[in-house]
Amino acid sequence: MPAFQIMSGSSPIPTAVRVFAPTAATSAHAHVRSMADYHALAARALAQPDAFWAEQAGRLSWSRTWDKVSAWDFNQVDIKWYLGGKLNACHNCVDRHVADGHGATTALIWEGNDPAETRRLTYAQLHEQVQRAANALKALGVRKGDRVCIYMQMIPELAVAVLACARLGAVHSVVFGAFSADSLVTRINDSGCKVIITQDTGVRGPKQDIAMKANADLAAPKTPSVEKILVVRRTGSSVTMQAGRDSWWHEALAAADAECAPEVMDAEDPLFILYTSGSTGKPKGALHTTGGYLTYAAFTFHYVFDYKPGDVYWCTADVGWVTGHSYLIYGPMANRATVVMFEGVPNYPDYGRFWQVIAKHKVNLFYTAPTALRALMKEGDTWPAQHDLSSLRLLGSVGEPIKEPEWLWYHNVIGKARCPIVDTWWQTETGGIMISPLPGATPIKPGSATLPLFGIQPQVVDEQGTVLEGNDVRGCLVLAASWPGQMRTVYGDHPRFVDTYFKRFPGKYFTGDGCWRDPDGYYWITGRVDDIIIVSGHNIGTAEVEGAIGQHPAVAEAAVVAFPHDIKGNAIYAFVTLKTGQAASDEVRKGINLKVRDILGPHAAPEKIQFAEGLPKTRSGKIMRRILRKIAEGHVEDLGDISTLADPTVVESLVSGRQ
Ligand code: PRX
Repeated sequence: MPAFQIMSGSSPIPTAVRVFAPTAATSAHAHVRSMADYHALAARALAQPDAFWAEQAGRLSWSRTWDKVSAWDFNQVDIKWYLGGKLNACHNCVDRHVADGHGATTALIWEGNDPAETRRLTYAQLHEQVQRAANALKALGVRKGDRVCIYMQMIPELAVAVLACARLGAVHSVVFGAFSADSLVTRINDSGCKVIITQDTGVRGPKQDIAMKANADLAAPKTPSVEKILVVRRTGSSVTMQAGRDSWWHEALAAADAECAPEVMDAEDPLFILYTSGSTGKPKGALHTTGGYLTYAAFTFHYVFDYKPGDVYWCTADVGWVTGHSYLIYGPMANRATVVMFEGVPNYPDYGRFWQVIAKHKVNLFYTAPTALRALMKEGDTWPAQHDLSSLRLLGSVGEPIKEPEWLWYHNVIGKARCPIVDTWWQTETGGIMISPLPGATPIKPGSATLPLFGIQPQVVDEQGTVLEGNDVRGCLVLAASWPGQMRTVYGDHPRFVDTYFKRFPGKYFTGDGCWRDPDGYYWITGRVDDIIIVSGHNIGTAEVEGAIGQHPAVAEAAVVAFPHDIKGNAIYAFVTLKTGQAASDEVRKGINLKVRDILGPHAAPEKIQFAEGLPKTRSGKIMRRILRKIAEGHVEDLGDISTLADPTVVESLVSGRQ
């Protein structure tokens, strides 16, 4: 277990905290209108959790009601919700809305990379598409329980593919479209996917023809489980199609029957696997199941975004990450929302793109990441000023702490001081939002995710695991009780699930985050306490990056740490020792960077690479990252105790070689 750095990194906590109470206009129509209402609901959820969670499951349509609401044990690490219940996630996100007479409601507004490209799908059209896609997958041999890898950019077919898998009871594993062929191989082999759904090539900002099918082609010979590849034509660029293995999405859907009954799934049947970084080099496949996950996504979407019928909602997250799963597809669609899906990037064709899309589609609820806000804030207020943002009613933030400067900019310049900002803390593992303001009730302190949602029981523990009672306490954030959206296991490796989340503090779920509960009981997330780095909201394991750097032929050893970065929040700083006889050069530095891009993808590339003669190690050979972090952060005058190092002299040369 790595040493804890409870207050490591730049703390997001400002010295003087301003409080922003909900406006009367927001509270008047909100689902929860006051703190008294919040406390009343929270108290009920704590006193009668099963009754509370049964009520939340009532947001969905079940073909068989559960026999028992919950059965979980954090000592045995066995978690089940809605035992015996039967339902289908696609039916809940699509079919029932059409059956209820809402087929003409817009489900998806797709905004292409090029501002001239927009597509709309009603729930009725989505219904037809998912049935055809499900039949097309069936024709490729996909059955309930099979794993399907979805490797695409943000195009409507991605949402259709996800829902089609859910319809068949096939377990989708979405792999972020910017991941390399190698990353694709690791993930496909871990879950044994039978089919890959991809697209010819992709477009993103000024980048044209981003390799997608070509990466799937590179992966396929190394992934024995893959039998078929289904290819969406997005750009029309020419790709190689292997006879017998590859087929076109548009042809397969045209040939497929337009009707496909949804598979009846058990509440605890897997819905998807989503890979997230771990402290060891191998990514973990977080497994989410059908009934609990969908209930939790639907419940949180309703309360946190204060969603009302007719609202247009835009989540900028990619479906390759959990935010896109829970708050672009499952949560909103279970609530019959109209969702904007965006293929492009915030600065293309110019820095006004987000604001132009908001004005164009009259977006009411907008959910994005602090890293995007920082990048846009830097470009000044003239970009948002050119667009009509008066449709906005609520703003959201996710992925890392939103610090005061960008919070205030978001509030004043984008929200015109009218819109509440929900800073939502959660994780791939939690399935949905856990700590967040409720827009009509919670007085907001910029930078704090504020208070737990109903039924969620965060605790702060010290390094020994003692629960720190009362307020104004700092420590590790754990969760004392299960919730329906909790991941159930690491796919194919339950012992790793137990070790990662339940061993450090027995009987509790360990989040890996440090936090401060302030004098008012508000939660402030202070960053990871383990070997995971959050870069631009992307969760990256240090071991993965070190492994990739180690594959460069000149490298003997590498250690990476985070350092604060104006736009990305954190960036990666790599300390690299070269093999004897290898000379440090910009060429090698470039080569290392390319290696990481190739193996993991561009988001994991180190911002800085420092060549070092040696790394600071204890006598037992463990790298003391604490020291590397301080050097990377520039706090070289305060390195703490270095007497336990095998060779304390390495520190001096590390300090002098700082990049
Ligand atoms: O450290 C926390 C940070 O992101 C981690 C989870 O990353 P991931 O599983 O990729 O999910 C990201 C989207 C939910 C957390 O352990 N994090 C996420 N949201 C916040 C946050 N840190 C502070 N404030 C947040 N709102």
